[in-house]
Amino acid sequence: MIELQDLCKTFESQNGEHFTALHNITLHINAGEMVQFQGVSGSGKSTLLHILASLLKPTSGRVEIAGENIASYSDYYASLYRRDTVAYITQSFHLLGELTLRENLLPPLVIKELSFKEINAATRKALEIANIAHKADEKVANLSGGEKQRAVIARAIVNDADIILCDEPTANLDKANALKFLEIIKELKRKGKTIVIATHDPLFDDLDIIDKRFMLKEGHLE
Ligand SMILES: Nc1ncnc2c1ncn2[C@@H]1O[C@H](COP(=O)(O)OP(=O)(O)O)[C@@H](O)[C@H]1O
Ligand SMILES: [Mg+2]
Repeated sequence: MIELQDLCKTFESQNGEHFTALHNITLHINAGEMVQFQGVSGSGKSTLLHILASLLKPTSGRVEIAGENIASYSDYYASLYRRDTVAYITQSFHLLGELTLRENLLPPLVIKELSFKEINAATRKALEIANIAHKADEKVANLSGGEKQRAVIARAIVNDADIILCDEPTANLDKANALKFLEIIKELKRKGKTIVIATHDPLFDDLDIIDKRFMLKEGHLE
């Protein structure tokens, strides 16, 4: 499903200095697997997820998703890939507080030109999976932190993406809300989604639903 081959990412700063954040990453993730990227802050986890989300291009190497090298996509194909294939869950919310939760889920569906009925079905399903359907018509500004995180999950999965990328998903959650997050992610795995989680939260340490763990150290895979 996800195949990385000799992936490198070098950033160039404005004064011309180079910094390599990812060195020759080669790995394989099967469809339906849940994998974790571990590593201290600065080890390259977010850079790797940005590349998998096609938000960032690698400097060299291949990023094959379902047999296609997304590293070679034009901006247009990259945007279609982001719309249809990946969901991206981060610790920052970027929700529109003055709109209701349901309204926050609409943009990707409207872009897809779905019918009213299809939009209703997709939003209902995403809100139910994220366990937040009871707040569908609440203004997002009125939701608690844990509820906002579930709103982010609902917005991320409303496109029914096959691949779900989570960047430090529990970083700003208390234990109770982190456990709720785990229940949602387990449900998504049961539905056959491929799930990639970047985190060093000890909560994930002895989770038996994680199929593989990768350790990043200064941009190298250990
Ligand atoms: N746009 C950028 N320009 C320069 N350096 C960057 C950029 N993005 C990330 N880095 C550097 O790459 C390294 C890895 O960062 P990141 O992937 O965010 O690590 P993590 O998510 O594991 O904390 C860090 O040293 C960071 O400073
Ligand atoms: Mg990070």
